[in-house]
Amino acid sequence: MRLLFLGDVMGRAGRDAVSERLPGLIAELRLDFVVINGENASHGRGLTEPHFQLLRDAGADAVTLGDHAWDQRDTLSYIVREPTLVRPINFAPGAPGRGANLIEGRNGHRVLVINAQGRVFMDPVDDPFRAVEAAIAACPLGEQADAVIVDFHTEATSEIGAMGHFLDGKATLVVGTHTHIPTADARVLRGGTAFMSDAGMCGDYDSVIGVEIDEPLNRFLTGIATSRFTPSEGEATLSGIFVETDPQTGLATLAQPLRVGGTLPPMLPTT
Ligand SMILES: [Fe+2]
Ligand SMILES: [Fe+2]
Repeated sequence: MRLLFLGDVMGRAGRDAVSERLPGLIAELRLDFVVINGENASHGRGLTEPHFQLLRDAGADAVTLGDHAWDQRDTLSYIVREPTLVRPINFAPGAPGRGANLIEGRNGHRVLVINAQGRVFMDPVDDPFRAVEAAIAACPLGEQADAVIVDFHTEATSEIGAMGHFLDGKATLVVGTHTHIPTADARVLRGGTAFMSDAGMCGDYDSVIGVEIDEPLNRFLTGIATSRFTPSEGEATLSGIFVETDPQTGLATLAQPLRVGGTLPPMLPTT
């Protein structure tokens, strides 16, 4: 299988880049399955239903969330009827929606998509490690699932690194989201799990993690908030990771970063 994961879509710039570029990438890279983190797609705060549909229409087979999951109140209701929208699995018991789901891709592959939220420099949530472990045990790679994709939404590279090794050999891909900055460590771990500490965002990088520079800079300089954060509207870079799998095992044989458009230097998979 050929998989693409794209990091946090940030505001209009991110949405436009996904709409304009993803259909071409799906054809060019012959992608079987695409997952996008959509937690910031609606003005940097959450994901409205129309914007969820926009990501799906552009080619996302599944959309994941994070700490901004409930910023748009309508997500609490429409997530219940949208099986391809996956929120962190370790939210409090009774949270609406699902934290893991087996989703069929365009070519008939069954992909277990899991979203989890970390606990280092993040709001309190339940244990992400045991929650993800249980979800994979209920739908193992190479048995019910042709691929297992874990979006681990967290701040600290140590925590995502630990998750990668914890799931090595049990997941196809463990990828971090939330920092909005792509890391240079995309690789296949020794047990066959593709890994990248953070996929980076799909947003305008001429910014402070996708936000117009003035207000965050002002807050660091003065400690005083004077206005709201505004998503930066320059051309977005699509940022993520491309993975190829062994069809027998569902494990990764190749993991390469992908960056297209905007101000970051382009990186396209060489396969
Ligand atoms: Fe984010
Ligand atoms: Fe986040």
